[in-house]
Amino acid sequence: MTAFTTTVDSGLALVTLDLPGEPVNKLTSGLIDEWETLIERLRGDSAVRAVVLVSGKPDSFIAGADIEEFTRLTTAAEAEALSRRGQDLMDRVEQFPKPIVAAIHGACLGGGCELALACHWRVATDSPKTQIGLPEVQLGLLPGAGGCVRLPRLIGARAALDIILAGKTERAQKALKLGLVDEVVPQSILRQVALAAADRLAREGTARRHRSRGAAGALLDGTPVGRRIVYRMAQKQLLKKTGGHYPAPLAALEAVRIGLEHGPAEGFRAERERFGALAVTPVSRNLVRIFFATTALKKDDGVPPGTEVEPLAIGRVGIVGSGFMGAAIAGTAVLNAEVEARLKDAELPRVGKGLKAALGILDERLKRRRLPAPRHRRLAALLSGTADYSGFTRADLVIEAVFEDLDVKRRVLAEVEREIRPEAIFATNTSTIPIRDIAAGAARPERVIGMHFFSPVERMPLLEIIPSDATDARTVVSAVRFGRAMGKTVIVVRDHPGFWVNRILSPYLNEAGVMIEEGVPVDLIDRTMTRWGFPVGPVALMDEVGLDVAQKASKVMHAAFGERLAPPAAIGRMIEDGRLGRKNARGFYAYHEGHKTGVDERVYRILGVKPLEGFAAEDVERRLVYLMLNEAAMACGEGVVRSARDGDVGAIFGIGFPPFRGGPLRLIDELTAGSVVETLTRLQEAHGARFAPAPALEAMASRGGRFHPD
Ligand code: 3HC
Repeated sequence: MTAFTTTVDSGLALVTLDLPGEPVNKLTSGLIDEWETLIERLRGDSAVRAVVLVSGKPDSFIAGADIEEFTRLTTAAEAEALSRRGQDLMDRVEQFPKPIVAAIHGACLGGGCELALACHWRVATDSPKTQIGLPEVQLGLLPGAGGCVRLPRLIGARAALDIILAGKTERAQKALKLGLVDEVVPQSILRQVALAAADRLAREGTARRHRSRGAAGALLDGTPVGRRIVYRMAQKQLLKKTGGHYPAPLAALEAVRIGLEHGPAEGFRAERERFGALAVTPVSRNLVRIFFATTALKKDDGVPPGTEVEPLAIGRVGIVGSGFMGAAIAGTAVLNAEVEARLKDAELPRVGKGLKAALGILDERLKRRRLPAPRHRRLAALLSGTADYSGFTRADLVIEAVFEDLDVKRRVLAEVEREIRPEAIFATNTSTIPIRDIAAGAARPERVIGMHFFSPVERMPLLEIIPSDATDARTVVSAVRFGRAMGKTVIVVRDHPGFWVNRILSPYLNEAGVMIEEGVPVDLIDRTMTRWGFPVGPVALMDEVGLDVAQKASKVMHAAFGERLAPPAAIGRMIEDGRLGRKNARGFYAYHEGHKTGVDERVYRILGVKPLEGFAAEDVERRLVYLMLNEAAMACGEGVVRSARDGDVGAIFGIGFPPFRGGPLRLIDELTAGSVVETLTRLQEAHGARFAPAPALEAMASRGGRFHPD
């Protein structure tokens, strides 16, 4: 035995799980073997009346089945067998003749949660680190170790589907409310409370819990007719949400339904069959790859391995520009990194407005009960403002979020450098302007770096970090770590116009504009791309970003890359008509009280086109998708991203490239570079030189290579 240690006192066995050499506990095949042996021994040990299972890891109970093992599965039958193994294990726990209590602190996810569900009592700590749930659908899977059957039986169909179909995790208090755990206690007394529960259960038997779910709950969860309504509504919502691209939630819904309507045995069968089928789908493979890519990025400081630097401890941040971006950066920094954030703008009323917006981010968490009131008060006190750089001498990092204009940014850098300590870092939040241009006149260019945040900062998961050639390694590592502390997935990209995300977005948005000029209806363009899997279509995205902002960015790209990335005239004409997008409620779409009401048909007149009828959606899709793939290949070939992994993560988290497709570079690998070149060549013949295949892609096609090694 290596993973488990057992101590027995007064008939209570305390089993501590600590998987050797791993940061978290996970249900590996080896661990399952050990657990089976252990449980048989405890069964036969007459000195043991009850068992408590606790984790020896600091912040994880059990993080689920070993996802690494899934990557080695080649057939559905193998995956089904793995699921069956998990189900048998949980069954043995549930049928164990002595009570087993799960003492939960930290991540209790997937197979870990399923193990807890099979136990006879669950005690969880009230720590924010305790997260209990079934995230499997986020990996393109379903709970495959009995979760589809046990969770609905424990907490009712509606609450269970809410967790399973979204792959949600819950904090302990919510889990208690739902009946997912039986007790919530401070971490310091977890073991004692769990041992006391085990003792009680051994003496008195397992208590039957009756939870009142109200009249509507009794009807919807408690009767076959009510549950039919629940299934139908869930299915409708799922089809709308997934666009049919993600098979896992629908399969999970089916497994839950069968388990509730036809009994556990049928439910388990349905669950493992579907788990088997899902585990080998390309969708699941891609989602699992994204999990490992983001996990790897959590440890990647953006400098070559072996670079020895002591990063700057960042406790105070100055933010120049208290507009929409600056305020959101301040609010997010305070919320997640718990640093002091001082907003600077030219006039105090503007500073006041920015502080209010930053505080709004904290208030929203408070309202959604994600932030307890005392912590909210403490964090709010970290925000301050100034109109004259007072306090900036104490800043470790200054983030500039002023207007996207080279001269303005240079002036701010010069002003800030006069105020801050020599070791402090200056980060510029730019979406397109090269950092070397901004840093050209800097006194300390080695301390200047780009931090490209995406809007809305508090919600968008990606951060691009851009060192110039002059930036030193310490600045890179410090900025990357700070970005992560802000809760972002960070990719370090090359100092090239548009960096990565806007580079691949640029031809895609331009082409949408070109199509509108040709008379392709706006709603056809957007509908086609949302059906393909993007969260919003390109035209709606331009409205969201702001047409003036989009135009500014496209001019920078045009200047840098020439005619290939020439902006369409349509955007300029829209701006001439006073249309800036959502922000002034006038864009390609019409808005009413902040809500998009539909395409503004007047746009066609403004652009002097008549909307075409019968334009093929496949043509829209091909032109938009292949231009983005081509640009991704070209930029990757130029070393804009350090790896295909970073490129795909950046596209998925930065612009919502459909995760189930794995990212643009993964998609090229799947289609093969040769076939992408062929399609681009055909598009080039039909539509012009902007479709000319990238040299990197042609080279790859000719040698039959791939962007990803696996
Ligand atoms: N399988 C394999 N490896 C896992 C893992 C898992 N379930 N969970 C975490 N790890 C690994 C990570 O890959 C990473 O490995 P590395 O150090 O070699 O790079 C290490 O554990 C630490 O993970 P993080 O860096 O992500 O640590 P954090 O503290 O930031 O997060 C976590 C911890 C919240 C547990 C997060 O890792 C996580 O969300 N894990 C995945 C949870 C999950 O999806 N579970 C469901 C699995 S599927 C399943 O259970 C099927 C079942 O129904 C049959």
